[in-house]
Amino acid sequence: MNVFRTKSIDLIKEGAGQKGLKKTLGASDLILLGIGCIIGTGIFVLTGVAAAKYAGPGIMLSFVISGLACAFAALAYAELAAIVPIAGSAYTYSYAALGEIIAWIVGWNLILEYSVGSSAVAAGWSGYMVGLLKSGGIELPKAFTAVPADGGIVNLPAMLIALILSLLLVRGTKESATLNRVLVVVKLVAVFIFLAMAGPKVNPANWTPLMPFGFSGVAAGAAIIFFAYIGFDAVATAAEECRNPNRDLPIGIIGSLLVCTVLYIVVAGVLTGVVPYQELNNAEPVAYALRSIGYHFGSALVGTGAIAGITTVLLVLMYGQTRIFFAMSRDGLIPAGICKVHPKYGTPHVITMVAGVAVALIAGFTPIGIIAELTNIGTLFAFVVAAIGVFVLRYTRPDIPRPFKCPAVPLVAPLAVLSCGYLMFNLPVETWIRFGIWSAIGFAVYYAYSYRNSALNKRKTITE
Ligand code: ALA
Repeated sequence: MNVFRTKSIDLIKEGAGQKGLKKTLGASDLILLGIGCIIGTGIFVLTGVAAAKYAGPGIMLSFVISGLACAFAALAYAELAAIVPIAGSAYTYSYAALGEIIAWIVGWNLILEYSVGSSAVAAGWSGYMVGLLKSGGIELPKAFTAVPADGGIVNLPAMLIALILSLLLVRGTKESATLNRVLVVVKLVAVFIFLAMAGPKVNPANWTPLMPFGFSGVAAGAAIIFFAYIGFDAVATAAEECRNPNRDLPIGIIGSLLVCTVLYIVVAGVLTGVVPYQELNNAEPVAYALRSIGYHFGSALVGTGAIAGITTVLLVLMYGQTRIFFAMSRDGLIPAGICKVHPKYGTPHVITMVAGVAVALIAGFTPIGIIAELTNIGTLFAFVVAAIGVFVLRYTRPDIPRPFKCPAVPLVAPLAVLSCGYLMFNLPVETWIRFGIWSAIGFAVYYAYSYRNSALNKRKTITE
């Protein structure tokens, strides 16, 4: 049994029927693309949860720590993305670099990033929608807007948005660059309205003590709000469409991360400056803060912007999941039947709906904090593996063309591993247990099904 067999890069490209995409994107397009995929539930919801439970006003510092880890991981990730610029992201890259079983476990964990992550985003969407309806005079009963752990029965709006977007994806909604641009502007406007209204009302007394739970609280906060940065990997996957990847990709990745980091720190500062951090553990902290200083209309406006922004993130994540499943089924690791393409719409309808129902069920019944932490651990793990992959491929395949090379790889790749590892280490023990169970199920599926059904069994070119 050779579980470390690799799939050759040429085979990967050939299998994907890669025709070569148009090279149209410049650095500023990439920055916008990144912001479109990044700003969502993390900043609009989890900042409040993390500040109230772990970091206090020190959440500002948490954003710096998490942003740095993302910057290292993103640079390494971008090199792999540029070598193998096809669907499947870290899963596909590890298949080429580290072998099938590692690829499988990365793919298995990307389900946490995309599907479980979607559930957290859907829950965030629900919080703002319920709040907006409430300020319009429509109060939905708590039983149907909160999960059991929060005193409700089911979070119905979260389930509904997940199902509606799955149906849209089945119908073949394409990510449109123009729509993305409009929505990016809408969500940025929402953030700026918040800053303009709440900024002058900051009471610096709320910032003391800065770290009520000590530095360990700040570190735990960083591990949770890592969620707010998820999505930057989407920029790396656009490598092949860049006019000048070597210059534009790092600018796009670091640029969007920088814009988001600065915005996040400022929003976190203003949020914890206008309201005592203990009050922020609610479903829509940004809108709540505005209401608490008397800006009801502003709160509704920001709420609307947040809903628009969160919707795009949700669409991107749910779409991303289907692409990863697609890549895994093409390799035979999951049954091809579930990735069947719809005869009329040309989309993988079965897996899209299966994933949509799973996302809806998780969002309907699980507290957002737990889902976000599980998402983070899976995503961080995938980034650690990707960073190791960059290193390995530099030695095993120095010859392959690298449209983008990670700068100072002997420094950046280990820093990515260490910083992402540090964030993982700071997640709660329960999250590690859930992660362990999830990984164990993954191994069981691999040995029971995937190894035997892998497309590599049918080919001679097993290893490079
Ligand atoms: N970064 C994305 C969000 O915060 C996943 O919603």
